[in-house]
Amino acid sequence: MTALTMNFASPRLMLVAGGAVKQIADVLAKFGLRRPLVVTDPFMVKSGHVRHCIDPLEAARLSVGVFSDTVPDPTDTVVEAGVAVLREGDYDCLIGFGGGSPIDTAKAMAILAAGGGKMRDYKAPFAADKGALPVIAIPTTAGTGSECTRFTVITDVERDEKMLIAGLGALPLAAVVDYELTYSVPARTTADTGVDSLTHALEAYVSKRANPVSDALALSAMALIAPNIRIAYAEPRNAAAREAMMLGATEAGLAFSNSSVALVHGMSRPIGAHFHVPHGLSNAMLLPAITRFSLPGAEARYATVARHIGFAATTDSDAAAAARLVTGLEELNRDLAVPTPSEYGIKEADWNGKMALMAAQALASGSPGNNPRVPSAEEIVGLYREVWTGATANR
Ligand SMILES: NC(=O)c1ccc[n+]([C@@H]2O[C@H](COP(=O)([O-])OP(=O)(O)OC[C@H]3O[C@@H](n4cnc5c(N)ncnc54)[C@H](O)[C@@H]3O)[C@@H](O)[C@H]2O)c1
Ligand SMILES: [Fe+2]
Repeated sequence: MTALTMNFASPRLMLVAGGAVKQIADVLAKFGLRRPLVVTDPFMVKSGHVRHCIDPLEAARLSVGVFSDTVPDPTDTVVEAGVAVLREGDYDCLIGFGGGSPIDTAKAMAILAAGGGKMRDYKAPFAADKGALPVIAIPTTAGTGSECTRFTVITDVERDEKMLIAGLGALPLAAVVDYELTYSVPARTTADTGVDSLTHALEAYVSKRANPVSDALALSAMALIAPNIRIAYAEPRNAAAREAMMLGATEAGLAFSNSSVALVHGMSRPIGAHFHVPHGLSNAMLLPAITRFSLPGAEARYATVARHIGFAATTDSDAAAAARLVTGLEELNRDLAVPTPSEYGIKEADWNGKMALMAAQALASGSPGNNPRVPSAEEIVGLYREVWTGATANR
């Protein structure tokens, strides 16, 4: 092994257990925090799910504020509204409760409240290392892994751009990871968020920035997610599958936060920004084709993954095992009923018209530069085209 230089960051505390959310007041107490603002989405409030977080806090006699105006694919305008609510009260921490969208909103609020200005001022490669107050993250999807990453993804509404914001200011102080909160996640969202975490682990593992610790976490995450994603999709109350998916999502988050994501995420964010496809679903649409394109850059690594998660036999050659990974991902998409962009309702002319802009935005995010095979802008346009035609041709 060559001399290693590694910079590994994670939350100071991660409480992982079924029912762990009941201990949220103890977690705050450990850090001397008493005045939380819970950041969540309107569904969590309407459905009553947010009570899982608020009840134990109120039982501990804490006064709790709630900001529940977060939106899927959080926007800079919502973050600004959140900061205004934060300034009205005397809060000492933020609790992000929900999927990646509310957690990312809470993180972005902490960053914007610390430095002021506009969310786009913090776009990577800027080091968004300062947060005005600590964030405690409680994920209810399995998932983005946002509870333990140093990233937040915020849409610039004026420019239709999903911005990656990176730095220690986006890293939660603590994560409370309770798979029981995911029993109510609908099948479609279970599939999409599950593929998101599988993509995090795979991209972390093949990334040029992989390191021994991210490798161990990525492989462990994939071994948890691959055999359980179909079960969680079909049987929402299967405790073993939900637990494995949640742990897998968290491990994958730690892995990519300390390695990186790569071309799939680079190309996925613009699809989300322009066509409002849920994040995990646009990853799924891209994953087989982008993996096929990337194989020559890291064939042995892709082969290791395929063998590790049972898509290939231990006796398969690297070339055969890597090819089986692509086939396995195509089968997974079929089993999880992942629509093509056209089945999702996107018009071909709109897709074609945005391809060059999406390729430029993908490259500008920096993520494609971490891919084992780094594409040119023309190659990215070709891949967007392939995802359109290849996907329709295969059906
Ligand atoms: N910060 C990071 O490191 C990171 C990593 C990957 C993705 N992201 C971002 O996270 C966002 C996506 O997050 P997400 O995929 O978790 O989706 P989400 O937070 O947008 O939630 C999707 C839907 O699921 C619902 N939901 C959430 N939990 C539920 C539950 N327990 N029961 C029933 N319904 C539930 C929500 O109300 C919402 O309607 C995107 O903006 C993406 O870019 C961030
Ligand atoms: Fe993701």
